[in-house]
Amino acid sequence: MKKDDKIWAAVNDAGEDLFLLPRMANRHGLIAGATGTGKTVTARVLAESFSDMGVPVFMADVKGDLAGIMAPGTDSEDMQKRIQRFGLADTGFTYTGYPVALWDIYGEKGMPLRTTVSEMGPLLMARILQLNDLQSDILSVVFRIADDNNLLLIDIKDLKAMLNYVQEHAKEYAEQYGRMSSASIGVILRALVALEGQGGDMFFGETALNISDWMQTYDGKGMINILDSVSLFNTNGKLYSTFLLWFLSELFEMMPEVGDLPRPKMVFFFDEAHLLFKDASKDLLDKIEQVVKLIRSRGIGIYFCTQNPRDIPDAVLAQLGNRVQHALRAYTPADQKAVRAAAQSFRENPSFNTVETLQALGTGEALISFLGDDGIPQIVQKAYILPPQSRMGTITDVERDQAVKGHILYGKYSRAYDPESAYEILQRLGIEAAAAAEKAKEEAEKQKLLEREQREAEKAAEREAIKAENAKKRAAKSVGSTVAGTVGREAGKTVGGLFGGKFGKTIGGNLGASLGRGIIGTLFKN
Ligand SMILES: Nc1ncnc2c1ncn2[C@@H]1O[C@H](COP(=O)(O)OP(=O)(O)OP(=O)(O)O)[C@@H](O)[C@H]1O
Ligand SMILES: [Mg+2]
Repeated sequence: MKKDDKIWAAVNDAGEDLFLLPRMANRHGLIAGATGTGKTVTARVLAESFSDMGVPVFMADVKGDLAGIMAPGTDSEDMQKRIQRFGLADTGFTYTGYPVALWDIYGEKGMPLRTTVSEMGPLLMARILQLNDLQSDILSVVFRIADDNNLLLIDIKDLKAMLNYVQEHAKEYAEQYGRMSSASIGVILRALVALEGQGGDMFFGETALNISDWMQTYDGKGMINILDSVSLFNTNGKLYSTFLLWFLSELFEMMPEVGDLPRPKMVFFFDEAHLLFKDASKDLLDKIEQVVKLIRSRGIGIYFCTQNPRDIPDAVLAQLGNRVQHALRAYTPADQKAVRAAAQSFRENPSFNTVETLQALGTGEALISFLGDDGIPQIVQKAYILPPQSRMGTITDVERDQAVKGHILYGKYSRAYDPESAYEILQRLGIEAAAAAEKAKEEAEKQKLLEREQREAEKAAEREAIKAENAKKRAAKSVGSTVAGTVGREAGKTVGGLFGGKFGKTIGGNLGASLGRGIIGTLFKN
């Protein structure tokens, strides 16, 4: 809840209010705890308050229990108890719904959320396709060849066409880009086919998400963008986490440096955040760390939700200033170690034992340390999280349908279209090359015919000459000059003109005039 222009999130053991300071909200956060201990509700309570302050929010919804945020909460005995415990009756607490934008990369539970292959970039694409280092390098080269030639890779068929093209012309590229084995390109192509089978053809394409569309307010409240990730998470965790990384990267590249603001420009909640880091290469981990560090000064706050803080690399963990730690259970020695580590990450409170308390917390209770005015983490508090104002249950299909189809962005994003891109251009070049080859063949045949006629004419002339010589016993002039016919060789050159500007300028969609790539290799526009 918003109180005194601060985010009132909880009340401690002594009945004192605990606030997340909007000024410190871009210093990121962690919401951790065992399953069922209240992480998602905590994220929702914070998201509601950010929205109240006019800050747009993004939430990844892995369990399908977040869309209820659009509807007012319902009264119950449990809620009445909480309202009393927190003294909410006098604070303006009301059951209320929030403006939402529901998204789904499969386009079923929300507005279709698409991106283009070019925008995703080679590093993240390699992660989705689970390529090894060598294959990833080749993919990067293929992206570079496409970028160098302003060939847009919108969808999977564009990337397939590009790979096929490079495979066919590998020799021509070897000098400039290095050798690319046909077998490795084959592996990438097969991985793409598998991705198509998982719906890849749905989420790569236009109309691609313009992430600034997430940063809207409605009646003064920040839009809460909810990405339904239930199917995505269950079908392919890599794909889920890679999409989240892409959002981060996009935002990072798009947002200007702003320094410290009274409140963040946007806040992200990443559920099941451990997946971002699972099996990530050292290179990618470094880049994630870098983006998390730098995105702060662009006014973006990131809140990682995960069961155990040890799931998050230390370098990232160290940057999460605002912490809500729900109960952790310690069944094994490894668990006990994790509990101790989680407890030690807080500034100790002399009034209780952090390790013991951490294991004894009930649902909706947590150890909390937010950053103080000075930017220093405050002493840990044992606290009770406020209840949300919105509905904790799910929404009906009718409610969902209304929220999706009635949304101001629905017209824009429900439209799928296939602009001219690599596939179309390469196909056209292929046709042109074939036509050129055909024409060259005809020319060559014509030429041969001409030569034959000429030779025959010469022979006839010779015969005439001999006849004449014989007849007149005089030397006759011989007719010479052979026309060489090598036109056929020219045909092959048409397609090879990749660097001769044959492709022309084909930048379209929502891209600007030049292409460049950011930290995580995603495309940025300038
Ligand atoms: N602050 C709270 N106020 C009221 N009820 C709460 C609160 N926190 C948790 N609950 C209750 O506990 C239930 C479980 O909480 P929640 O879904 O947030 O757990 P979780 O940690 O996200 O679990 P999982 O790991 O399974 O996603 C909620 O459905 C709600 O009924
Ligand atoms: Mg949850």
